[in-house]
Amino acid sequence: MLVAAPSPEQVDRALGLIVDRQAAPVTACAYLGTTPDGIRAELDDIEIPWRETLRVAVDDSADVVGAVLVDWDEETGRSWVHGPWTRDEAMWDEVADALLDAAVTLTPATVQDHEVSAAPEHERLAELATSRGWIASEVNYVYVARSADGWPDAPATVRPAVDGDLEAVTVIHEEAFPGTYATARRLLSDPERVTLVLTELTELADSGRSTGGAGWVLGYASAEIQADGDGYLDFIALSPGARGRGLGAGLLSAIGRAVLAASPNGCVNLTVKESNAPAVRLYERFGYAREAELVGYRSRPTD
Ligand SMILES: CC(C)(COP(=O)(O)OP(=O)(O)OC[C@H]1O[C@@H](n2cnc3c(N)ncnc32)[C@H](O)[C@@H]1OP(=O)(O)O)[C@@H](O)C(=O)NCCC(=O)NCCS
Repeated sequence: MLVAAPSPEQVDRALGLIVDRQAAPVTACAYLGTTPDGIRAELDDIEIPWRETLRVAVDDSADVVGAVLVDWDEETGRSWVHGPWTRDEAMWDEVADALLDAAVTLTPATVQDHEVSAAPEHERLAELATSRGWIASEVNYVYVARSADGWPDAPATVRPAVDGDLEAVTVIHEEAFPGTYATARRLLSDPERVTLVLTELTELADSGRSTGGAGWVLGYASAEIQADGDGYLDFIALSPGARGRGLGAGLLSAIGRAVLAASPNGCVNLTVKESNAPAVRLYERFGYAREAELVGYRSRPTD
């Protein structure tokens, strides 16, 4: 079976295959969503142009029977493989391994930490990844909120992050999310993102870090509007000394309200590890509903 870069006509057929396979958790990958328009928007939003990294498996009658593509970030040395997708289970057994190889081979030498992600139901992907020694994450829950009903008012101590917050946010970000896909610098410098900080001018000063008169930064939250129109809150954390005192609620309310207002689909999505009891408790108290489960498989996890 040939795995190669596609002809223009094969790109369209591969897209049809991807849309079809994304419809069910047992064959979908985590990153692209499930609706045809949403998938196309997410693909077009991938940093490395997806048509350049798309690789297809083609059978004897020139049909596209498998596809894969990959995105990467040299700053963090990580890649995210989208797919592989195959026409059916028999074809998975035949070409999934070669498709995954084709994707990984495209990444620069500085990128050594590769990841695929899907629902736990996608057992074939789990087998493929673990057969390579890739390490499964714990289950992550996907939560969504569509209304701010019952949320507390956003407190006056939450404000948009400014350049002077970078050092304080970096410390909290790296402690809470070591080895994650985006640095604090990237969060703060991305004009497409909403990044807020929770400050405290007097109390709890020993728990946070000064930002030169603008208040002690006790925590931050950062979110974006995805290409498919959903809001995505990917980071929220307090400095360790500020946790467990109910302060996260104000920050969650403020970022959630900002994202709901900006999301064309009027929703906030987030993922959380199933073992993260305080965060799960907080999200459920806010009325976030659990919509799906995901597992990531990484070749060299750094966290
Ligand atoms: C998640 C986080 C932002 C929550 O903020 P917080 O101010 O510490 O949260 P709270 O003090 O309001 O606690 C949240 C809830 O968890 C409960 N809780 C705290 N520790 C708990 C534990 N070990 N087990 C079960 N529940 C726990 C609290 O009682 C509270 O429940 P309640 O609302 O019924 O009283 C904060 O803990 C944090 O920064 N954690 C590290 C980073 C992180 O995990 N971010 C989320 C990634 S998805």
